[in-house]
Amino acid sequence: MEPIKIALTKGRTEQQVLPLLEASGIDCSGLRNKGRKLIFNDDPRYEFILVKGPDVLTYLNNGSVQVGIVGSDILDEQGNSQYAMLNLSVGQCRFVLASTADFNPQQQRRKIIATKYPNITKRYFEGIGEDVEIIKIEGSVELSPLIGLADAIVDIVETGNTLRENNLRVYAKLQPVNTKLVVNRLALRQYQPQIKTLIDHLQTADQAAV
Ligand code: PRP
Ligand code: MG
Repeated sequence: MEPIKIALTKGRTEQQVLPLLEASGIDCSGLRNKGRKLIFNDDPRYEFILVKGPDVLTYLNNGSVQVGIVGSDILDEQGNSQYAMLNLSVGQCRFVLASTADFNPQQQRRKIIATKYPNITKRYFEGIGEDVEIIKIEGSVELSPLIGLADAIVDIVETGNTLRENNLRVYAKLQPVNTKLVVNRLALRQYQPQIKTLIDHLQTADQAAV
């Protein structure tokens, strides 16, 4: 039988999900000692590919992989939440509006907001009836209010260390973020028993880990 192809978000998600995959009885020896490799098929039932979060959805929507493991931040930003099949308890964090101590949320001038998530930011400010200028940043967003690029940021907070170590504070809490298992619709029909087994095992491992 063909292995199920799974796009796994590399970095933090990969590290948090790896113990769950192992606890689900999946051989992840290659992923454990991966070096610069990007494809792993130590367990004959599955083939894992390591990609950046937004690319998980590109591979999934195109049908190149059947399953994706990705943060809800990516799904919310790209508007693909209809594929989510399983919420994992790992990787829970939250979107916030943050800035320096001297930021005035009531400032008269139109605010400039830096973020990796322009759609989420736009929706938040539209929701509170405020017109802002959004600057898209690719990473280390916390720098932008410190260096004078933006008045504030919309970004994810997990432990709070990045905000603390850069003297930033939270001005508003936005939606929570978690890690989700998402499935290509067509694949769900073609590989139903295998995908159901994967979801059941992962769910059991996840609940045992909480
Ligand atoms: C993420 C996020 C925050 C930080 C939050 O950045 O954008 O900066 O983690 O985590 P913390 O609250 O535990 O400090 P990441 O490390 O993924 O890097 P990037 O923003 O440069 O992509
Ligand atoms: Mg960051």
